[in-house]
Amino acid sequence: MSRDTSHIITLANIKGGVGKTTAVVNIAYLLATEFNKKVLVIDSDDQGNATKALGAREHFDPQTETLWYALNHKKSYKHVMVEGGYDNIWVVPSTKDLKGAQIAFGQSARGIKMFQRLLKGVEDDFDYVLIDTKPQINILLQSALAASTWFLIPSFPEPDSYDGFVDLLTECDEIVEDANDQLHCLGVLLTSVKKIPAHEAYIRFIQKHMKQAHVPLLKATIRSSNAIATGSLHSCPAVSLPGAYAIREDYIKVVRSIIRTVNKGGPVVRPDLEALGVLGSTDSGLMELEIKQNIESVTI
Ligand SMILES: Nc1ncnc2c1ncn2[C@@H]1O[C@H](COP(=O)(O)OP(=O)(O)OP(=O)(O)O)[C@@H](O)[C@H]1O
Ligand SMILES: [Mg+2]
Repeated sequence: MSRDTSHIITLANIKGGVGKTTAVVNIAYLLATEFNKKVLVIDSDDQGNATKALGAREHFDPQTETLWYALNHKKSYKHVMVEGGYDNIWVVPSTKDLKGAQIAFGQSARGIKMFQRLLKGVEDDFDYVLIDTKPQINILLQSALAASTWFLIPSFPEPDSYDGFVDLLTECDEIVEDANDQLHCLGVLLTSVKKIPAHEAYIRFIQKHMKQAHVPLLKATIRSSNAIATGSLHSCPAVSLPGAYAIREDYIKVVRSIIRTVNKGGPVVRPDLEALGVLGSTDSGLMELEIKQNIESVTI
C-alpha cells in the first residue's frame, strides 16, 4: 500500500479534561469503521486512556511495545504498534514510563525530532495518524506538533477553557516558526456542549474572536452526552455503543469536516495572536470581562 501522504493530526489543549482523548478515540473509530481509513493512534499521554479505550491495554508488552520504548530506542512505529479491539485501527500504547520523557529528551536539541523519526514512512501504511497528548507544554507535545500536518483543539465551551487553547495556539505558532512550517490548524472543536444560555453566549463570543484571529471554529460540535461516560465504563468509543445515535451523529459530522479540510489542504494560516489577547494591545483581562458580560447578559 502506498499513499502520497498521511494526515498526521495532533489533538491538544493546554487545559486538561476538555475531551481530547474522547475525541481521539471516537474520531479514530469512525474514520476506521465508517470511512474505511487505516488509522494509527499514538497515545502520547502517560495516563494511557486512549490505549485503554481502543481495546489495546491487554494486547501489548509493556516493556517493548510502547511509545516510550520506541522513543528511547529510536525505533519506528512499526516496531511498537499493536492491534486494538477494532478493525483498521492500530495503537502505539503508552504507560506510566512515558513520564520520563521530559527529563530524558527535553534538553536534547534532537528531542523535537523524535516523532519525525518515529513516523518516518507512515504514509506507506496509514491514511490517518491521530496523536493524543497530555495537557502540558512538554517535549512530547512539541515533538508531536513538529511531526504533524494538522492540529485540532478540543475545548469545552466555557471561559475557563479560553486560556488553555490560546496558550496552545501560541505554542503551535512557535512550532511553525521554528520547526514545522507545514503545521496547519484544523481549528477548535467544542465538546460537551449543552443547550444552555451560558454555552450559547460563549459560543457567540468565540465565533467572533476566532474569526478575527483567523482561527477556524468547527461548525460541527459535540453535545454533552451520557453515552461518553458509558463508553468510558466499558472502555470503548462511545460512538460504537448500540443506541448512541446522537453522539455518533455529532462525531460523524466532525469527521466529515476533518476529511474535507485535510483533503483540501491549503497554506498554513498563522493566527493573529494580538486579536486573541495574547500580545500587545489587547488586554486578556478585558477579554475575560467581555466573555463574562456576554454570558451574564443572558437569562439563566
Ligand atoms: N461530549 C461529552 N459529553 C459528556 N462528557 C464528556 C464529553 N466529552 C468528554 N466528556 C467527559 O469529560 C471528561 C474528560 O474527557 P477526556 O478524558 O476525553 O478529556 P482530556 O482532555 O483527554 O483529559 P486529560 O487532559 O486529562 O487528558 C471525561 O470524564 C469524559 O467522560
Ligand atoms: Mg486525555
